[in-house]
Amino acid sequence: MNEPVVVRQCVDGPMLVRGADVVLDDQGNEHRVTRPVVAVCTCGKSQRKPWCDATHKVIPR
Ligand code: FES
Repeated sequence: MNEPVVVRQCVDGPMLVRGADVVLDDQGNEHRVTRPVVAVCTCGKSQRKPWCDATHKVIPR
């Protein structure tokens, strides 16, 4: 049996996703997950969407 996917929203930061195989972006494109945990951008400013590139740390919310 597969482990459940666990999602945790960081305060003013990315959404951490553990155990996923694929993340769908807002246009329905599939992005393969190759790590146990990935950080998904929630601010919309990352240059590597759907992944967080830490840009959220330097932009005002
Ligand atoms: S949440 Fe980190 S760059 Fe958007």
